[in-house]
Amino acid sequence: MVWVEWIGVTRAYRRRRVATDLLRALLKRARRRGGHKAWCDSRVNNAESVPMLRKLGFKPLCAVKNHWYGHDFYLWEKKL
Ligand SMILES: CC(C)(COP(=O)(O)OP(=O)(O)OC[C@H]1O[C@@H](n2cnc3c(N)ncnc32)[C@H](O)[C@@H]1OP(=O)(O)O)[C@@H](O)C(=O)NCCC(=O)NCCS
Repeated sequence: MVWVEWIGVTRAYRRRRVATDLLRALLKRARRRGGHKAWCDSRVNNAESVPMLRKLGFKPLCAVKNHWYGHDFYLWEKKL
């Protein structure tokens, strides 16, 4: 199992596929090293990362209410 921790791209460089390329490289490396599944979380109303994770093939497992700092989060998974 590979837990994908926080990813952030400085504002001036957003929407240039930086996060997509980094995550694709991470997932590829994880697969090569024997990982079978990646998972991560995001706030349910994160308008940037929710579509990004969907495009990368992550599926929402469940919503976790009142989680970090009282916000609602999705838990995501992707088979490698
Ligand atoms: C989420 C984040 C890492 C994305 O980084 P990025 O390098 O700009 O993302 P990419 O260019 O690879 O975009 C990939 C896809 O994400 C979605 N996306 C990214 N920014 C978006 C925006 N402002 N509005 C809507 N969709 C967006 C799009 O589907 C995009 O694909 P497209 O450009 O082909 O439409 C960046 O917005 C960020 O640092 N946000 C603040 C920190 C954060 O929320 N991190 C995630 C915590 S879970």
